[in-house]
Amino acid sequence: MTIFKTLGQFIIEKQADFPYAKGELSRLLRDIGIAAKVVNREVNKAGLVDILGDAGQVNVQGEGQKKLDVYADEQFIKALQNGGECCVVASEEHEFPIDIDSEISKNAKYIVCIDPLDGSSNIDVNVSVGTIFSIYRRDSIGGRPTMGDILQKGSKQVAAGYVVYGSSTMLVYTTGKGVNGFTLDPSIGEFCLSHPSIKVPARGTIYSINEGNYRKFSSGVKKYIKYCEEEDAATNRPYTSRYIGSLVADIHRNLLLGGIFIYPATLTHPNGKLRLMYECNPIAFIIEQAGGKATDGRQRILDMEPTALHQRSACFMGSSEMVDKVEQFLRSED
Ligand code: AHG
Ligand code: MN
Ligand code: MN
Ligand code: MN
Repeated sequence: MTIFKTLGQFIIEKQADFPYAKGELSRLLRDIGIAAKVVNREVNKAGLVDILGDAGQVNVQGEGQKKLDVYADEQFIKALQNGGECCVVASEEHEFPIDIDSEISKNAKYIVCIDPLDGSSNIDVNVSVGTIFSIYRRDSIGGRPTMGDILQKGSKQVAAGYVVYGSSTMLVYTTGKGVNGFTLDPSIGEFCLSHPSIKVPARGTIYSINEGNYRKFSSGVKKYIKYCEEEDAATNRPYTSRYIGSLVADIHRNLLLGGIFIYPATLTHPNGKLRLMYECNPIAFIIEQAGGKATDGRQRILDMEPTALHQRSACFMGSSEMVDKVEQFLRSED
């Protein structure tokens, strides 16, 4: 039985791991937790309030924005503006970064890249959705933060996490010293430690990929899917196919049970679909901190040099032995 500890207590306790820390990162994580509770309140009663359906505009991704995309984006940006620890936010829902230049943020040194609402296609049908965040420390000194401060390699993240609004609402995050999960107790309005030191099993029997795109996959990906479906008791195959269509929900399940999540390059998405800065990088940081692997099929996602805010990357993430296996099939393509 995990001892009772709230997210706030845990953050403060772990602050001791960072001798230089003066509480700013702790306060930033607190601010994100507050916004997550506000978004959770709307997600949980979405069918009863006017928060479902389309917002009637298209975002920079060319996606029709859902009302909850816009609502979540507003709540997280407001929490970061009011918290004073963040100097600039890069959001999926905004073409350009949002500079937070205010009296209380004048010394802020953290940058947040965020997917405010992940899994938008599932909102209106009551399927789990999420929020994904990635935190960097600015490199530049003085003046306003630059795009160079934002476009840092994933290996430079100081923290990353996600919220999954599912059968229960959980916040899972890492600051580079392991991965811990907190479940929201609605009766007290607190995220409480429920999954300490999460480790992803080295191998699993779940593969997650949108097989509707099968004909657009490369030969190596097609061969790996066939490998997953073959009968072989010694390697517990055939595996189980599980694909929710919300990255956070698919990743959370595979993180806990073992498995692999794949969104590869396809004929229509030559760089894959998922965005590097606020989907692939934060999830890769968490997966690696839990003992798993996260690559684009060839290189570590965290080593990728970003060049654009909304750039996409292929991703193969999860149990280390399963990522190794699919990479063998990809190399056979060469
Ligand atoms: P978002 O809702 O933030 O735009 O992200 C959607 C992403 C991700 O959540 C999911 O894994 C993927 O889109 C599903 O894509 P397909 O519907 O093409 O399978
Ligand atoms: Mn979207
Ligand atoms: Mn997303
Ligand atoms: Mn989104």
